[in-house]
Amino acid sequence: MTPHQDSNFKQIEQAFIAAIKDSADTTALKEVEVKYLGRSGQITELLKTLKEMSPEEKRSQGQQIQNLKTSFTTAYELRERTLLREEIETKLRAEFFDLTYSEIAPARPLDHGSKHPLSILQKEVEEIFAEMGFEIADGPEVESEYYNFEALNIPSPHPARHTQDTFFLDHPTDPKHGHLLLRTHTSPVQIRTMEKYGAPLRVITPGRVFRYEATDATHDSTFNQVEGLLIDEGVGLAHLKGIMSEFLKRFFHDEITVRFRPGYFPFVEPGIEMDMLWKRGKEQKWLEVMGAGMVHPNVLRAGGLDPEQYQGWAFGFGLTRMALLRYAIDDIRLIHSNDLRFLKQF
Ligand code: FA5
Repeated sequence: MTPHQDSNFKQIEQAFIAAIKDSADTTALKEVEVKYLGRSGQITELLKTLKEMSPEEKRSQGQQIQNLKTSFTTAYELRERTLLREEIETKLRAEFFDLTYSEIAPARPLDHGSKHPLSILQKEVEEIFAEMGFEIADGPEVESEYYNFEALNIPSPHPARHTQDTFFLDHPTDPKHGHLLLRTHTSPVQIRTMEKYGAPLRVITPGRVFRYEATDATHDSTFNQVEGLLIDEGVGLAHLKGIMSEFLKRFFHDEITVRFRPGYFPFVEPGIEMDMLWKRGKEQKWLEVMGAGMVHPNVLRAGGLDPEQYQGWAFGFGLTRMALLRYAIDDIRLIHSNDLRFLKQF
């Protein structure tokens, strides 16, 4: 190998290393490859000359030419990797799509439902009474005359039957249970729980009741009540008042004004009613929210208990009416109206 050839190889190497470095993208880099390693590329041509060389020349130059090719491939691959990474990054940056916010196509808001005000309040009532040691009992909405009236000391033809106008089902049962009907109050569950669990007893029953009556701002034909029943030895009305004031304090989280007055229900003796002051705009009026009293001995007997041993108190308040007070709603009919403008506020 002559010094001239040697410096020639060096020049070729410097030239392709510079060309590889200067390639701005993979297309330019490919062109450099063609120039040196293509069919008539500079390095290819040199490789071809190996065939005509004497063994002597081959020994001295062959290795140099091979080194040239290796040097090219190494530099080429290194640059190619860098360029490919850059190209992918540029592409990803260009294609980046912000899924959290796009001015072009803002996501449509999901229209999800909300809990019904009565469900929200029923859960709160259940939690408050559960903390005071009450169990939650359930009963059927389709009842018999026996449980809705008879066992509650309202025999037929008692005038009190007409105070709760009833939806009767055209379906007689046995002579003891009479006709089927939609329960007019949650009080039948008093009898059912006494029959099932005996005494002592501490239950509440939230549920839907039905009355065949004209509707107005404070009366609906379907509404919710919560029945409460406590039976034990030596209980009195003072205990009921204590439980009720604790409940009202927790339920309304606010100063509320209530008044108690005597009330008549055949299934309690004595009976009381509770009203609450209802603010409607500038007006205030008393709204009847609850009936209560000491369980009548005949009712204890119907439930299979001995009135000589056990006493009890019971209450039944209108949860739908309480909703009017809690949420400052001025017409009870809104609650079952299924009006989304109303329901979406809860
Ligand atoms: C009763 O239903 C008795 N069962 C309550 C009771 C239970 C008394 C246990 C004694 C012992 P009354 O018919 O008054 O009573 O109804 C009770 C409550 O339900 C009322 O105070 C009122 O808050 C609510 N209510 C009554 N009628 C309607 C109506 N049409 N629409 C909305 N709420 C009503």
